[in-house]
Formats: sequence, structure tokens, C-alpha cells
Amino acid sequence: MDIRKLSDALGAEVRGIDLNEPQEAATVEAIRRAFAENLVLVVRDQRDLQPEAQVRFCEFFGPLGKRSRPADTRHEKSDEPAEVMFVSNRRENGRYVYTLPEGEMMFHIDQCYVETPARATSLYAITVPEEGGDTLFGNLCAAYDALPVDLRALVDSHRALNVFTYDSTQRDQVGNPSKRREHVQPMVVRHPVTSRKALYVNRLMTWSIEGLDAPTNEQALARLFDHEERPEFVYRHKWRKDDLVIWDNQCTIHARTDFDPGKDRHLRRFTVAGGPLRT
Ligand SMILES: [Fe+2]
Repeated sequence: MDIRKLSDALGAEVRGIDLNEPQEAATVEAIRRAFAENLVLVVRDQRDLQPEAQVRFCEFFGPLGKRSRPADTRHEKSDEPAEVMFVSNRRENGRYVYTLPEGEMMFHIDQCYVETPARATSLYAITVPEEGGDTLFGNLCAAYDALPVDLRALVDSHRALNVFTYDSTQRDQVGNPSKRREHVQPMVVRHPVTSRKALYVNRLMTWSIEGLDAPTNEQALARLFDHEERPEFVYRHKWRKDDLVIWDNQCTIHARTDFDPGKDRHLRRFTVAGGPLRT
């Protein structure tokens, strides 16, 4: 096995491994270390990766997570484990039947609107278009370290309300109070292994900072979002069929670029469960 950095921002590529096969303890330990250090791992060419093999890979990092969205039979196939979710634009009888089928999606943190968000998220590319639908990953530890002094003081001493409505991809779709889920979270969390601090806010879901008036809130959040999305903190992943990617869902943000809705895009998701966020 060989592990190489993908960018200065974050991310590493793991080569020379077939995850359909069980791995030795030393290999698992090397993968865990690389994940703690690089926050995103890309494992290419995992042909016909079985759901059980993706689950086993996730369990290198902790217990398998549950979906946060309510049980919804349209997502469930009898031969798939209950924890699976598909990010997919496939249709049945002309209608989308899976999650987040279309278009660009703003930077976000999965499940930050519940008390214990996933520790990590994995996606396996079953079919992806040749162009578009890239995933951008941002390093929130690097973003925290580079904060201007006034913003660092603000996030160190405040909490923020995170809000989401399922299937929203843009901030202006999130507001519907009857359908939204929300949770107040710290604005700074610590990596569970390295103890590095990470800036825990994102453009899609972080709604307001506790104790600030509306204009101050708006201005501070805009500065934080623009800061953490700066290109020097971001790695852009161009998907290939058979990629398995896992990202640290506490210390990174991710976003999706637009793609042709007429092209098949079908990815299988499992998460690693997270405990209470460490501050
Ligand atoms: Fe996501």
C-alpha cells in the first residue's frame, strides 16, 4: 500500500489495496493514521466494492452511523443494509427516488443540525458523469488556524444554530420552519485524535450565532464562510467510477459542483457514527 498527498490543503490517495478483501491490522492502523492527518482519503479503482466491504472500511474509524433522515422506503432495497443511502439522480416512473439528485450544493457539514453528527462520511462512485459533479473539500483546521484575531475570539466564545431542511442544496431553501431540523453547536470543535481545533460553521446550514443582533450576525457569518472557502484550504475531487472516498465530517466542509441532470450519477453512502462534538 502507498499513500500520497493530494493537495497542500488536505486529502491523500491510497493505492495498492483491494478493500473487498479483509485487511491486516497494520494496514488498518496506517489508514487510520493517514485519515487523522489528511482528513480526506481517496481509494481509487475499487471495482465492484461490495456494501459489506464499504461498511468494513467505515468501521476502521468507528461504529457505523445511522441515516439522520427519517426511514423512507423509497431508499431501501431488500439486498442493502438499512444504514445505506444513495446520492443519486436515478428515477423510477419518471421521479427521483434517492437523495440530493440535482445540481450544485453549497459547502456544508453532514448532520450538523443534529446533536451527534456523523464522525465521517464515505461515498462509493458506482456511476459518475465524465464532467461536473465534483466534490470540493475544505480543511476546517487550517481555516481555524488562519482566522483573523477578531473572528477567532468570536468563534472561541460563541455557539451557533445549525439548520437544515432535507434535500436543500442552497441556503435560501433551508428556512421552512415546519420541515427544518436544527441544533445549536459549538463554533469550534477538536479533532478526536490530533486535538487540532476546527472552525465548525458552513454556508448552507449555519444560520445564526447566539447572542448577536441580525446585522452583526450576517456580517460575521459572511466573513467566516468566505474565509473557510478560500482556495488554499480546498481540494477539488473529480470523481472516477470505483472511487471510494471518506471524509472527516467534523473537521472538513464539502460542496458539490453542478452537473448535467441527463447524465447518470449514482453514489453509495455509509457514515461513521459520531459521539458528542469535542470542544
Ligand atoms: Fe454532504
